[in-house]
Amino acid sequence: MSSTLRETLKIEVYFDFICPWCLIGKRQLDQTLALLRAERPELQVELCWRGVQLLPYLPAGGEDFEAFYLRRLGGEQALRARQAQVRQAAASVGVILDFTRIPRMPNTADAHRLWQRASQLGSHAQQDAQLDALLESLFACHFQQGGDLGNAQTLLDLAAEAGFATEALVSSLQGDGSPFLGTAEGAASQGVPSFVLGGRVLSGAQPVERLLASLRQAIVTERQPAQMRIIVPASRVPAPGKRALIEEGGKSLVLFNVGGAFHAIDDSCPHQGASLCGGKLEGEVIQCCAHGLRFNLNTGYLLGSTQLKVGRYPVELAGEQLHIVIPQEDVVPCMR
Ligand code: FES
Repeated sequence: MSSTLRETLKIEVYFDFICPWCLIGKRQLDQTLALLRAERPELQVELCWRGVQLLPYLPAGGEDFEAFYLRRLGGEQALRARQAQVRQAAASVGVILDFTRIPRMPNTADAHRLWQRASQLGSHAQQDAQLDALLESLFACHFQQGGDLGNAQTLLDLAAEAGFATEALVSSLQGDGSPFLGTAEGAASQGVPSFVLGGRVLSGAQPVERLLASLRQAIVTERQPAQMRIIVPASRVPAPGKRALIEEGGKSLVLFNVGGAFHAIDDSCPHQGASLCGGKLEGEVIQCCAHGLRFNLNTGYLLGSTQLKVGRYPVELAGEQLHIVIPQEDVVPCMR
């Protein structure tokens, strides 16, 4: 087993599909990144869009769009004024919005679950184009095509059009309107869109000039530390439903394959340190053998709590190789 060091600038964006400011923010970020790449072609940018469900209480079938906003904003005048403001901001970045073409305010829980699963299926380097196409099509479905992001078939069709194998995504859909938990911490609590650049949070859609200045600053003064990548040999990659103990450079990790999606966690229960490698796996939940605590492999959190969390690490597919990405703060000194 071997490991390599690679520098990247990581950008996280917290968003919801039904937020027009998130769509506007995406356009602004796209334009900013194009400028940045022209400036610094050597820079590796890792872009992660993290879903936040703004309206988890909506019924699974959603609500009438106009009625939702009339109730929320208190009347026709306020609604039209808000829509005019959003339309103007959208037009400034080349997005034409026609709110009369949006029939439903959907429950986006399953859209977020599908997006999260799609984002886990491969490395961002491999799937940047596919993921961007999927994100664009999910936004377009709601804002421009009159589609319903609460409809499972719609979601799967959009994923297929973006080049994803729907067999790997279908089990992420629940169809019951149960809330998407996602990442309910940190920048997500500051609203959407929120951009996390080099450890700083920028809340709200940002003009290109400001975003570019923040990115330059993040590169110069808050450059993301180097990551360690543990390259998993093909012979150690677990089959679906299986797991493998990966010991490398002082870290002891368990790599799970849940229906084709990989999860890597510390082989140490945050309760009292028991090994999790032999735990009972049910879907994306691992149960510690010692005292029975159960942890969500997607978030690392103890089920039903955010008080206890097992260390978890992104798993990326780079070419034919599976990489477990260890952030610098988690790299033990002997590996430097
Ligand atoms: S050590 Fe895992 S539940 Fe106690």
